[in-house]
Amino acid sequence: MNTLDEIAIKHGTDKSSLVHNYCNKYEKNLPFNRLDEISILEIGVLGGSSLNMWGEYYENSKILGIDINPDCKQYASNRVSIEIGSQTDAAFIEKIAREHGPFDLIVDDGSHMQSHVIFSFNCLFKHLKPSGIYVVEDASCSYWKKYEGGLHRIGTSVEYFKALVDAVNFLGLTQVSNINKHARREDLLIERIASENIDIRTDLESINFLNGLIIITKR
Ligand SMILES: C[S@@+](CC[C@H](N)C(=O)[O-])C[C@H]1O[C@@H](n2cnc3c(N)ncnc32)[C@H](O)[C@@H]1O
Repeated sequence: MNTLDEIAIKHGTDKSSLVHNYCNKYEKNLPFNRLDEISILEIGVLGGSSLNMWGEYYENSKILGIDINPDCKQYASNRVSIEIGSQTDAAFIEKIAREHGPFDLIVDDGSHMQSHVIFSFNCLFKHLKPSGIYVVEDASCSYWKKYEGGLHRIGTSVEYFKALVDAVNFLGLTQVSNINKHARREDLLIERIASENIDIRTDLESINFLNGLIIITKR
């Protein structure tokens, strides 16, 4: 059986070890079985290579690619749908999520503009299934000026996800009493949250920063 990287090389996507070397990381970090009937959304179709890669690796998957370029429509096939629109268009995102979601895996390989990456995450994360995976690719764009990046610059995706780390350790006020009676990490936060009215989300299981990839797992 071919590895994801071998399949990526065959289809010519830059996710392979010939360019970004994401596939070995995907094989280690994605929790799905290759025969699972998973639903995948990828932002950024280009020549359709990565959609074909996912389709061959997860042979029972259903795949949606979105892109602003209408030429990408030609890469639709029996298990691959293509919708044309922008990752920055909330109405478009809601429409495709309603028609094709919820998703097990969402990969953002679109414009890589930092404001777009954060905007799309905020629109799409709620359309992931529980235990679903959201991936921001080319996280190094977070440091490039032309993608609105910069080291430690507020507004980059790396800074945005760093700031969500506290939420990984927090299950939420309502769930605390149901789990156990012992002191929990949340206890440290509850007092501050109540007194300072801090908004901490409760839907993040993990945020994994890899070279070039940010992998967020939904609770
Ligand atoms: C890096 S390429 C995708 C490569 C593809 N995923 C692969 O691995 O073969 C980026 C794609 O994002 C698309 N794109 C750029 N801005 C976008 C936006 N605002 N919304 C959706 N797609 C966008 C581009 O048209 C381009 O096809």
